Amino acid sequence: MTPQVSQNRQVGTCLPPTDFALLADPLGFIAEDHLREREICALLDRIAACARAEGSAAPDAQDLDRALAFLQKELPLHLADEEEDLFPLMRRCCEAEDEIGRVIERLLSDHHHALADTPEVIEVLNLLWDRAPLEAEAQLISRYASHARRHLILENAVILPIARLRLRADDLDSLRLRMMQRRGLSSLAELDNA
Ligand SMILES: [Fe+2]
Ligand SMILES: [Fe+2]
Repeated sequence: MTPQVSQNRQVGTCLPPTDFALLADPLGFIAEDHLREREICALLDRIAACARAEGSAAPDAQDLDRALAFLQKELPLHLADEEEDLFPLMRRCCEAEDEIGRVIERLLSDHHHALADTPEVIEVLNLLWDRAPLEAEAQLISRYASHARRHLILENAVILPIARLRLRADDLDSLRLRMMQRRGLSSLAELDNA
């Protein structure tokens, strides 16, 4: 059975990391990662807003924990899923009329900037356990979230729908296998028995 990807998530509810069982449908797993990333963006905005809040209290420690866990553990896996597996598969399977090469170049450039900016955002978040962000720090965090949102919109609107259309069953099998290997899983049965 193909797992259902939840459609009605409230932004900001901040769920636990994407469930590995969703890897049965690797594109569904990527879509779920995108929902999660959107929630993390809302959370980063909330952290940044502490700079302007009355009394300038430190951000919620759980918000910081979740944002840091996402940026340090989940995001690198997600970027590798796309760069090393999904995008190359799409370059191979898409028709010229899809003009996918141009879109992928733009997305890879976004990834390059995200990888360059993430360490500084992590460094700033780690300064905020007991104080509010300074205005420059808040701007850095908000800018990072807004770039990530723009990237997500393009991937959700263009990449995932075309991938659903063009990738065949064996492409999806190889995508699933590579994503599982990246997470140290040898089979989906392993999840059922966990
Ligand atoms: Fe993505
Ligand atoms: Fe991406």
